[in-house]
Amino acid sequence: MCAFFAENTLSFALREKTKSIHDRTDHRIMSMGLFSSLNGYRMFLLSQYIFHRDIVKIYEGETLIRLLPDLKSRNRFACIEADMHDLDLPQPPASSGDVIPFNPSVAVGWLYVAEGSKLGANILSRMSLALGLTESFGARHLAPAPEGRGQSWKVFKAAIDGAELDRTMCVSAAEEAFARFSTCLDLAQKLLGEDGAEEAARSRVAL
Ligand code: HEM
Repeated sequence: MCAFFAENTLSFALREKTKSIHDRTDHRIMSMGLFSSLNGYRMFLLSQYIFHRDIVKIYEGETLIRLLPDLKSRNRFACIEADMHDLDLPQPPASSGDVIPFNPSVAVGWLYVAEGSKLGANILSRMSLALGLTESFGARHLAPAPEGRGQSWKVFKAAIDGAELDRTMCVSAAEEAFARFSTCLDLAQKLLGEDGAEEAARSRVAL
């Protein structure tokens, strides 16, 4: 293991190694104006749907449930579906297959990105209020966990920091997850960009 990984916790390493790709993602979302209008928000929501559909099986893996007993309740996919329903956003056709190969270290890298994004959701949730959305209509998936964002994140970090995982693999997987989110934004833009939500219903574009 290289010195950086030996001297730091996994959660710190993940944070440091993905800082710049996070910042690029954040800037992209803001520059696309996804929280400036309801149509922009619908595009964000669709990208969240595609991303979370990719990782839905991660929340059901026995190895990871042993690591994080509350894993299933951390899955926001059902809330995203409900948000789409609130906003009359049709769900695109079924996924073409599994995007993520199963391996606990890879799964933790992807999960880090999904769990960490709940921190930034604090800001996004406040911005969504200006669009008339709430934690019980349209922006359910941005709501904090019942125990609070900070506590939920603390538990997640303690679990991964105490686990025997391949740290290099975790970091590469987290980078891949951020890259995939960017692709999800591209796909959502393609589906909703010009013709609006109806295009998503008609399209047979494989996501
Ligand atoms: C405009 C959009 C976004 C903003 C404004 C934003 C903002 C933030 C902020 C302020 C934090 C740190 C919160 C804290 O330390 O208390 C954070 C953490 C994080 N966000 Fe974002 N975020 C955005 C989008 C995303 C997206 C789309 C993803 C994933 C695809 C993501 C993944 C993460 C991760 C993994 C962390 C944890 C970093 C750590 O290890 O401490 N964020 N975000």
